[in-house]
Amino acid sequence: MSEIVHLNGEFMPLESARVPVLDRGFIFGDGVYEVIPVYSRHPFRLPEHLRRLQNSLDSIRLKNPLTDADWTALTREIVARNQGEDQSVYLQVTRGVAKRDHAFPKDVKPTVFMMSSPLSTPSREQIENGVATISAADFRWYKCDVKSVALLGNCLLRQMAQDVGCIETLLFRDGYLTEASASNVFIVKGGVLLAPPKSHLMLPGITYDVVLELVAANGMPYQVGAISEQEVRTAEEIWLTSSTKEVLAATTLDGKPVGSGKPGPVFRRIHTLYQEFKRKVMRQAA
Ligand code: PDD
Repeated sequence: MSEIVHLNGEFMPLESARVPVLDRGFIFGDGVYEVIPVYSRHPFRLPEHLRRLQNSLDSIRLKNPLTDADWTALTREIVARNQGEDQSVYLQVTRGVAKRDHAFPKDVKPTVFMMSSPLSTPSREQIENGVATISAADFRWYKCDVKSVALLGNCLLRQMAQDVGCIETLLFRDGYLTEASASNVFIVKGGVLLAPPKSHLMLPGITYDVVLELVAANGMPYQVGAISEQEVRTAEEIWLTSSTKEVLAATTLDGKPVGSGKPGPVFRRIHTLYQEFKRKVMRQAA
């Protein structure tokens, strides 16, 4: 059965979905998106994803074409119409179709697209052994808190990792850690979990928030503050977080082992807490 997607109010097979070439998403990357993990057919942290979508839309001065109730209903519908208990719902809103001109068109309807694919979380092997990462200078723009579809910078940075058989590229700007090409980053130093502060230099991750909530609720020591490149390079543990990676240990950075070279004890604790939390939330939603 082919994937069913939603485009501008209609459901259709993925192969039938078409967007005009003058869509500003295609011409300018003028749009925003969200990726929402779905476990056992229940969207995880949907209100938080919708709040971040609203923030992204506000930042690019685009009126939200749907209410939160509409988005919620649409998400549930797309999940119901697609196969698989665990899915990854992708939604995007662009400024719509208009004659090419950088300035915003007047009275144009935004393009609304939503699709779902099977959720692919890290393999057992990746969880047990961790993954390899590299680092690079963060050369992206100054609105990294906007979940923009204009991801060329992120794609170039992620490909640098791919080229050398690594999973992610950690990013440093002016000597400080920002995030990675498609994940947030945490480190453990002296047994304390350190997280970079939310700012225009990183995406405020939904998984990042879940991790900090779990750490606080379980009395684990943590600190949110600027993290220097030196601190990252001498960290005992480095973690990547995202809606699809969940929490994953980075066990090498630029070819050198991180700490012992194996996922550390703090990672193992948070990984267990995260899986327990997911199960609890899904039980409550059922
Ligand atoms: N990316 N930082 C960047 C640059 C990201 O692209 C992502 C997620 C994150 C983590 O955010 P969250 O925990 O809300 O997923 C941080 C998604 C998964 C993607 O683009 O596919």
